Amino acid sequence: MKILVTGATGNVGRMVVDELLARGATDVRALTVNPAAAGLPGEVEVVRGFLGRLETVPAALAGVDAMYLAPHPATVFEVCRLAAEAGVRRIVDMAGAKGGTWQVIEDGVEASGVAYTHLEPGEFMANSTLWAAQIRAGDVVRDAYGDVVNAPIAQEDIAAVAAHVLLCGASGAFTGSADASDAFVGASIELTGPEALSRREMVAAIGRALGRDLTYVELTGDAAAEHFSGVMGSYGQWYLDGLAQLAQHPQAAVSTVADLLGRPAMTYGEWAGRHADLFR
Ligand SMILES: NC(=O)c1ccc[n+]([C@@H]2O[C@H](COP(=O)([O-])OP(=O)(O)OC[C@H]3O[C@@H](n4cnc5c(N)ncnc54)[C@H](OP(=O)(O)O)[C@@H]3O)[C@@H](O)[C@H]2O)c1
Repeated sequence: MKILVTGATGNVGRMVVDELLARGATDVRALTVNPAAAGLPGEVEVVRGFLGRLETVPAALAGVDAMYLAPHPATVFEVCRLAAEAGVRRIVDMAGAKGGTWQVIEDGVEASGVAYTHLEPGEFMANSTLWAAQIRAGDVVRDAYGDVVNAPIAQEDIAAVAAHVLLCGASGAFTGSADASDAFVGASIELTGPEALSRREMVAAIGRALGRDLTYVELTGDAAAEHFSGVMGSYGQWYLDGLAQLAQHPQAAVSTVADLLGRPAMTYGEWAGRHADLFR
């Protein structure tokens, strides 16, 4: 079974490649803008292209059975239509909570008629790099909504689930057998980390990973708006609005990663330890 990984040097896509190989996949193709610079493993077939450049997509899809679809909203409908034309039998996409920013990805996939599995991660632990510049500069983190709670997920776990679903499809759904993996066809899988944490707790965990005592300073109102627009530009207010929503509807952890993979999902503390250099 030939599996195409798109966005193959992306944060998640690159890990999907590694997870597929680690699980024994032998026919993996990777789509990347610059094969020479991609540094992909030698056993991977590398094809030059990008989901946003539709003229490069048909060659990447030729002979492909299943595809990991990186989130590129601008061309998702056309890419998935091309996948259907090329005979792709399964798309595993990374989107997000239904009705949110990434809904268009699921819409594009479903419009194609190809069998699909939607992965719906919540916030990524890696989004905590939002605080990296402040932590590198000192021991104070200025932020907002310090007590708001969610359950961020490690990108490593998203990639592991993507590979698991793609390879389970190989043993069942693609061959038409009544395998348990057929349960993934048409499924939407919410993915979170193993615990819900406040932003204050996340900052403290990064401090522990660094062996430092970080002080969380809560900003509100105009001070918060000014701070976030300084850090995130035009996305600052969008991000703050998201936090306000989260205050109303805290995100609880779900157990899907552990249920599917048979091992615990990565905790925030583990993630911070593994990626402490991001904050040094
Ligand atoms: N629930 C959520 O919060 C959620 C859900 C989905 C996505 N997201 C966000 O979406 C992003 C997607 O993550 P990811 O790890 O798959 O991707 P990523 O790290 O943003 O990388 C996407 C890859 O696509 C390729 N690419 C080439 N040209 C590009 C261009 N002009 N614009 C965009 N991509 C281009 C690149 O790979 P090559 O060089 O190999 O071609 C790039 O590494 C993340 O930043 C994440 O925060 C969030």
